[in-house]
Amino acid sequence: MGYRHLNFPKDSLFLVTGGAGFIGSNLCEAILDMGYRVRCLDDLSTGKKENAELFKDNPWYEFILGDIKNPETCVNACEGVDYVLHQAAWGSVPRSIELPLFYANNNIIGTVNMLEAARIKGVKKFVYASSSSVYGDEPNLPKKEGREGNLLSPYALTKRADEEFAKMYTKFYGLETYGMRYFNVFGRRQDPNGAYAAVIPKFLKMLLNDEVPIINGDGKQSRDFTYVENAVEANLKACLASKEAAGEAYNIAYGGREYLIDIYYGLTKALGKDIEPHFGPDRPGDIKHSNADISKARRLLGYDPDYSFEKGIALAIEWYKENL
Ligand SMILES: NC(=O)c1ccc[n+]([C@@H]2O[C@H](COP(=O)([O-])OP(=O)(O)OC[C@H]3O[C@@H](n4cnc5c(N)ncnc54)[C@H](O)[C@@H]3O)[C@@H](O)[C@H]2O)c1
Repeated sequence: MGYRHLNFPKDSLFLVTGGAGFIGSNLCEAILDMGYRVRCLDDLSTGKKENAELFKDNPWYEFILGDIKNPETCVNACEGVDYVLHQAAWGSVPRSIELPLFYANNNIIGTVNMLEAARIKGVKKFVYASSSSVYGDEPNLPKKEGREGNLLSPYALTKRADEEFAKMYTKFYGLETYGMRYFNVFGRRQDPNGAYAAVIPKFLKMLLNDEVPIINGDGKQSRDFTYVENAVEANLKACLASKEAAGEAYNIAYGGREYLIDIYYGLTKALGKDIEPHFGPDRPGDIKHSNADISKARRLLGYDPDYSFEKGIALAIEWYKENL
């Protein structure tokens, strides 16, 4: 259970790309708490300076302001690194439909730059962020690795391409890569602002400000909302996984199924707000239901998520109440 008991060689150095973002900053925090060294590479395009500044007094933390689209930056960032946790990318399905070229450069070329840099510098493990969006229109539930459908957005395509490149780097160059197919991760420091914000922090912020949230569609869509500590566990366990488990992608979720409308009323109840939502049109590129079979990650990574949706959402609510 969990990850705090995991042991890495003394003086291990982790490179977290996208470490000023939501998942990346949680990874940095966990690794520093466990007593290991962290280097964060981030261009602060969607991440926040405050997230990097959280750790600035910790001598084991180093921040590099840089862009993964620059190959030289990636090679320099990998100097002396044991484990790469590559999170840097732009998220959001609708934004990728507006900016396909940017997404191809940032999310695909950026990832290949990082794979190449990790290969050149001989890093031990390359763990990277993929996404449940690679399942596309595959209708069967739960989603299972090896059973993917047609892709529904440029964002999903970038993540599929990243997985294929990572597989190649394992096959041809022996770089041990592990893909994390995250399913709707939520928790502290997830950005509640902007048109492309994820639904949980967005609802929380609006409700705390007595604003009326808009639900896209009828609210009956379901997701395997995954508390961020589970994603941290998966990344750290992948760093200790066997060579045989490399070159693969893994569902990283809790294995539950939450309906958006239930989450909405759960939040209003927890916050004591009597606010009815407005309903808007479905978003293009969205799928109706998505929940995960996590047996592959359990079997090959030893992933054993500690945080149910209920446990995670209670912690998230507390955090947003104190920090917004
Ligand atoms: N949050 C989720 O539910 C979820 C679900 C599926 C996949 N993912 C993936 O997980 C990763 C982390 O997502 P997040 O939710 O923490 O997003 P985020 O936007 O909070 O973090 C991404 C970070 O990457 C940085 N970044 C982006 N492009 C960069 C570049 N070219 N060079 C350097 N840094 C760059 C941003 O500044 C940001 O700090 C992403 O790869 C995302 O696609 C997230």
